[in-house]
Amino acid sequence: MRVLGIETSCDETGVAIFDGEHGLLADHLYSQVDSHQRYGGVVPEIASRDHVRKLAPMVSAALAEAQMKPGDLDGVAYTAGPGLAGALLVGAGFARGLAAGLAIPALGIHHMEGHLVAPLLGPGGVEPPFLALLVSGGHTLLVAVERIGGYDIIGESLDDAAGEAFDKVAKMLGLGYPGGPAVEKLAAGGDPGRFRFPRPMTDRPGLDMSFSGLKTHVMNAIGAAPSDPQTAADIARAFSDAVVDTFAIKCRRALRATRLPALVVAGGVSANQALRARLHAIGEELGVQVAFPPLRYATDNGAMIALAGHMRLAAGERDGAAFAVHPRWLLTALRPPALAVRPARVSHTPGAAQAKTP
Ligand code: KG4
Ligand code: ZN
Repeated sequence: MRVLGIETSCDETGVAIFDGEHGLLADHLYSQVDSHQRYGGVVPEIASRDHVRKLAPMVSAALAEAQMKPGDLDGVAYTAGPGLAGALLVGAGFARGLAAGLAIPALGIHHMEGHLVAPLLGPGGVEPPFLALLVSGGHTLLVAVERIGGYDIIGESLDDAAGEAFDKVAKMLGLGYPGGPAVEKLAAGGDPGRFRFPRPMTDRPGLDMSFSGLKTHVMNAIGAAPSDPQTAADIARAFSDAVVDTFAIKCRRALRATRLPALVVAGGVSANQALRARLHAIGEELGVQVAFPPLRYATDNGAMIALAGHMRLAAGERDGAAFAVHPRWLLTALRPPALAVRPARVSHTPGAAQAKTP
């Protein structure tokens, strides 16, 4: 089965084609970063309009790359939520229209389920059951994954998501949007001993987290210390260490409590190298396999939606007649597909282009 995947939940337009026998046939990504940068964050209306402009040419380019005609597609998967309502509507409208025109099924996919399966696009992905740490701009979730669609949230951030905290700290330090990569780069040159921020909610039992208080510590440190590049790097380092340490403590605790045999880490923040190194070390300590998506599939992309869509469409799931997107959508509202259909080949096909559509 060949599935077109469309991701438009925020500021990336992602289009990919996943084939159950041959893996990824095409994968195109357009980042809107340049359109939003001057505003210091994503402007929803600009995001929607950019998706409108890019989507059709990107789908044509993906089909051309896969040497397919629209009629060769067997299904269309799109991100139906959570995300920006207008941006979601662009992807959903396009996907549903295309599927109706081709008389093939369409299916709305939960964005975080897309992130959850993204490690399978690389060589080191693992099958459920596993513990998942999902860390994006809008979500910070610890999920016990019994199978695809069988999710139990055992911990989450009670306030800011981790990615959001990175973005806000980046702003305070005068770095651009998106903040995560900029803070990571700055922190790499920071002195880990100069500032120390708390590891929120780690001194009491439980798996919930909180990142909003760290902003105050960053703000206070910025106000009290001289304003020079090394100080900024030292503050970025202290912030990054606090977040990474907090995740390490919570993941160790969750793995011990659940006895799940593997840890999957996904979502934009999973691109962070310090986090990767630290959680790999925890995995070694506990004898647990730790899987991350290939870097390209850590942040938003169409391939993860095409893959998650394939898993469900191949099992016979499809949208009903009603048209809807879900800007807010709980992961626990999902159900496992009726059949567990595994594509013959999942990991990324070396021949598939990694086009960055201009
Ligand atoms: O999953 P994602 O691409 O979009 C959402 O679903 O939100 O995640 C974006 C978030 C942003 O907050 C961004 O700052 C953060 O992921 N991020 C990072 C890194 N790369 C992206 N945070 C820390 N380190 C990174 N290298
Ligand atoms: Zn995302």
